Parts: sequence; C-alpha cells; structure tokens
Amino acid sequence: MRTPASASNLALSPDPAFGADAVIAFSERDFNTVRQLIADYAGIKLSVQKRNMVYNRLLRRLRAHQLNDFGDYLQLVTANASGEREAFVNALTTNLTAFFREPHHFDLLAAYARDRIGKRRPLRCWSSACSTGEEAWSIAMVLRETGCPGEVLGTDIDTDVLETAQAAVYRMERTSGLPPERLRQHFLRGTGANDGLVSVRPDLRAMVRFGQLNLQSPVWPAQERFDVIFCRNVVIYFDREFQKKLLHRLADLLVPGGLLMVGHSESFPAAHPGFRSCGRTAYERLDG
Ligand SMILES: C[S@@+](CC[C@H](N)C(=O)[O-])C[C@H]1O[C@@H](n2cnc3c(N)ncnc32)[C@H](O)[C@@H]1O
Repeated sequence: MRTPASASNLALSPDPAFGADAVIAFSERDFNTVRQLIADYAGIKLSVQKRNMVYNRLLRRLRAHQLNDFGDYLQLVTANASGEREAFVNALTTNLTAFFREPHHFDLLAAYARDRIGKRRPLRCWSSACSTGEEAWSIAMVLRETGCPGEVLGTDIDTDVLETAQAAVYRMERTSGLPPERLRQHFLRGTGANDGLVSVRPDLRAMVRFGQLNLQSPVWPAQERFDVIFCRNVVIYFDREFQKKLLHRLADLLVPGGLLMVGHSESFPAAHPGFRSCGRTAYERLDG
C-alpha cells in the first residue's frame, strides 16, 4: 500500500463504504495510469474531463476487492493472473444504446435487404460494438420483416454487456419506442415473476450470435466477409491513428457494394477511396 496522497491529490468525495469521513485518494498519477491502461487494452482515449467518472466507476471495483488504495487496485489490474483486467475494461466502457437508434440506418438496411432477396446466400451483418444487443436485434428484426434470409454477428469488448445481449431479455421500457406490431412480432411478454420484461422470440434469436471481440486486437476471427457492418458510436473513443487502421480493416471485411454504418458524429470513412457516401453516416464499399 502506498503512503497517503497529498491534499491536492485527494479524490472527490467521501466513500461511505470506508466510514463517513474516509476519502480514497485518486492521484494524478493513478488517473494517468488508468488512461494509459485503457488505451493499451481497448484503444479508448479518456480525456482529462473524465476523471470524476473514472473515479466513480473504479471505486466500485475497489470495493469489490475491499481495497482502499487505487495504486493497489491498479497493480491488481496489471497482475497477469488476477482476472481484474476484464472487469476494469468493463467498468470503463460507455454502453449507451437503444433499439433502432439512428433509424435512418435501418431504412437503408431494409432497402438493401429487399434488393438481396432471392440471392444465393443469406445476408451477413455485423454489429461490431453491439453493447447490450439492441443494435444486433434491430438488424435481425429488419431482415425478418423484409423476408431476407440473414445472420447477424454481435461483438463487443465488454463481457458484461454481452451477457445481457445474449440473454435477450429487456425491461419493457427499453422497447417503448417500438411500434406495437413490431413488439408483438419479435418479443414475448413476461408474466408473473417476469412481469415488466420482454424476451426476444426464438426465431429472431436463431439469427443472431454474440461473442467478445476487441476491435483493437491484431487478429479478428472472422473468416468470411460481411454485406453490412454497423460500427457506430465507438470510434469516437479511439484516436485518429486507430480509427484509420480500423477503417482499412473494415473495408477489407466488406463485400463490394456492402454497407458501413457509422455513428452520428463519425465521418471517418468519408476520406477513404474504397467508400462512397450513400446516405446519412452510411457508406457503400466500392469495388476494388
Ligand atoms: C456507446 S456504445 C455503442 C453501441 C451501439 N453500437 C450503438 O450505437 O448504439 C459503445 C460500445 O463500444 C464498445 N467498445 C469500446 N471499445 C471497444 C473495443 N476496443 N472493441 C470492441 N468494442 C468496444 C463498448 O463496450 C460499448 O458497448
């Protein structure tokens, strides 16, 4: 354990878990170590403004290990056999998502899927930072509704959100924006102990599989190319260099004529010669 930090390094609020007056020190050095580690592990660049957020999120991890020193905790994260690295990454990701978020992408997907009906193989789609699964399920709903055979892969670095995605059970409020017809077609309503929950219907579940994938890792297991890739609201967390590399890899993984959808504040494919804009934050993979 380290010596107490100076007053200027003291963190922001007392922690009730360690007594009313206890304050867990979170020094500039701790914060910089966190920033370095999450950049190394996940490519995520944390701005200095995120210090409070980082403190609050990691405090829960300290509590889980009954630690009261960030230095000790960070040693645990970096220790090979501790297994804490995964929980550290999970704690620092931002997982905001929704069914049919940025709906224009799903209109475009529907048009693309309709054009593909009757082609020899099912449409292959990838939700590459799928969070709790809403994006992947939304893609599957569109394929089902258009009658286009297809399969969806949902991946994320965060193993906690993947558990939710895989379970495919959501609080009813999460689906409140869906038209009743869509809700009926794709979800089962919980009753009794499951009141207030909805569960994705088995036919939709059969179209989607989830797995962990760090977009930063040098090897991706995908064997075949995709027709449509959703890479939305994740590259904003990466630096320019990583964004560029990622874009090249995504381009390689798309079939000619395939679609890449990015988040509302992300225009990173615009400058790539292999893509042409084909709608709001949507890009078509050019041949060659
Ligand atoms: C804000 S959510 C976006 C979810 C969804 N794509 C959407 O637009 O609604 C960002 C997701 O990216 C994931 N993520 C962050 N870094 C990642 C990485 N290096 N590899 C894979 N996923 C990552 C996070 O875990 C989080 O679930």
